[in-house]
Amino acid sequence: MSNQDLIRGKIKIAPSVLACNFESLKDELLLVEKSGADWLHLDVMDGHFVPNISFGPQFVSTARKCCVDIVLDVHLMISHPEKMIDEFVDAGADIITFHIETVSNFQETVEKIKSMGVLVGISLNPETPLEAINGILDQVDIVLLMSVNPGFGGQSFIPSSINKIKKLHSYIEEKKLNTLLEVDGGVNIENAKEIRESGADVLVAGTAIFRSENYTKTISLLRG
Ligand code: DX5
Ligand code: ZN
Repeated sequence: MSNQDLIRGKIKIAPSVLACNFESLKDELLLVEKSGADWLHLDVMDGHFVPNISFGPQFVSTARKCCVDIVLDVHLMISHPEKMIDEFVDAGADIITFHIETVSNFQETVEKIKSMGVLVGISLNPETPLEAINGILDQVDIVLLMSVNPGFGGQSFIPSSINKIKKLHSYIEEKKLNTLLEVDGGVNIENAKEIRESGADVLVAGTAIFRSENYTKTISLLRG
């Protein structure tokens, strides 16, 4: 990872692989990387914390083999994420984000991820208030705000997420933190401007990119 990947205010686009054509996975990953993606967003779902199952560490390792340089942004939508950290780090994750709703031992989980030399993110479901991360924001590198209920790609952006993004952005500014603000779910070329202007640093987009004709053009429109 380069320092460029961590600069606040410099918009980063993270295509969500969940929406790509799995029949030609390698070509899709290489194409999206060549098309200007900054990070690859990998959605891990366990059928327990969310009502869907996607993939695990082996898939992350395949992505690492396909794209040697790109930042692998692993979004764990799983219960007991602390049990799987070693596997995802070994598979090549650069960032591991877990949900605040899934852990009782936040501190331990954060420390374990950091001690393995990867960045740590904390994620909040749409209905989880920002107060849930009061006082712990300075311990994480990224906050990922879900703008749809987690579990499936292709859903519509929940409009009230805009206020949440603005509120969190102001808080990060006020406290002079380096925390990146990532927004995930229903991001597209129509709403990207408002999301960026509300203070997001990282935009995750699955359907908007992988179902478009021209990945380069879509990524550059999302970036603004
Ligand atoms: C939802 C995932 C998202 C999702 C984004 O549970 O965390 O990353 O795949 O896909 P789109 O952009 O299609 O909403
Ligand atoms: Zn995600």
